[in-house]
Amino acid sequence: MDLTQLRQERQKWLTWKNIAPLQQAIKALPVYEDVEVELGDAVALSIENLTSEDAAKIEQTARMMLPWRKGPFRINDLFIDSEWQSQIKYNLLEPHFDLQDKVVGDIGCNNGYYLFRMLAHNPKKLIGFDPSAIYYSQFQFIDHFVRSNIIYEMLGVEHVEFYEHKFDTLFCLGVLYHRSDPVGMLKSLYKGLNKGGELILDTFMIDGDEEIALTPKERYSKIPNIYFIPTVNALKNWCHRAGFAHVEVLEIKKTDLNEQRKTEWIATQSLEDFLDPNDPDKTVEGYPAPKRVYIKAHKAR
Ligand SMILES: C[S@@+](CC[C@H](N)C(=O)[O-])C[C@H]1O[C@@H](n2cnc3c(N)ncnc32)[C@H](O)[C@@H]1O
Repeated sequence: MDLTQLRQERQKWLTWKNIAPLQQAIKALPVYEDVEVELGDAVALSIENLTSEDAAKIEQTARMMLPWRKGPFRINDLFIDSEWQSQIKYNLLEPHFDLQDKVVGDIGCNNGYYLFRMLAHNPKKLIGFDPSAIYYSQFQFIDHFVRSNIIYEMLGVEHVEFYEHKFDTLFCLGVLYHRSDPVGMLKSLYKGLNKGGELILDTFMIDGDEEIALTPKERYSKIPNIYFIPTVNALKNWCHRAGFAHVEVLEIKKTDLNEQRKTEWIATQSLEDFLDPNDPDKTVEGYPAPKRVYIKAHKAR
């Protein structure tokens, strides 16, 4: 696969009529030498001596980029209160990885919230994949201030196996249920790992010991592109079919209305609109309400 040509083609996405104004607004932002970056629950940026005129310009640019699904981010007094409190997932996973001097990929990285958080671990290389021009623009906006060495590729999980190098640790969070060929996706990630490498992944799951998966007829929790929701045992089988030697279950957690909720930074509906108003254990379609399993899958040495 010719990734150079694919990259060139995808760069053209930035000229689309909904994306080009974002790109122009990012380019028009002032450059600041002194930006303090704090990597806590919010990725917080403090710009010294920020004028009210510049602050207004920054806010206006951020508001052009709705929806902000992942975050939160803070730039001086501006708090980008994203739909997801992504620190909940990140803080849950952080005790389970050590990225020091590792080549790390976050596949389906959205605007890069987790990648920014991972900077605190001093990885050797940090690369995000997400085939979305809007989320890439959000990343560029934040990185305009952070000036990190994170590489953002507008590529998909299907390209990981063809990438120019392999990874020590791959994250692939909240992507598996969007894929119509989940074992194929896991194989691509497996091939993208170095020997002894690790995959950290989360996905929707259903309860039960059987090795089965729910296949929503149309939508799940109002989301159109959800294909398979496995039991934990089915997910383990998928990983073994893809080649992984060993799978650890890190956590099982129901998504609650604190983690995903409507804020002024998204224009659409959120979790409370996706659940049955009479039974919060069910989605509006009558399926079990969203619950996630977090795993670490190991590639043999
Ligand atoms: C549900 S979000 C998950 C975001 C983040 N990883 C998280 O867990 O919070 C799914 C992400 O996958 C991205 N995506 C869509 N198609 C993809 C593909 N082919 N490969 C990788 N990511 C993809 C979307 O743009 C979106 O950012």
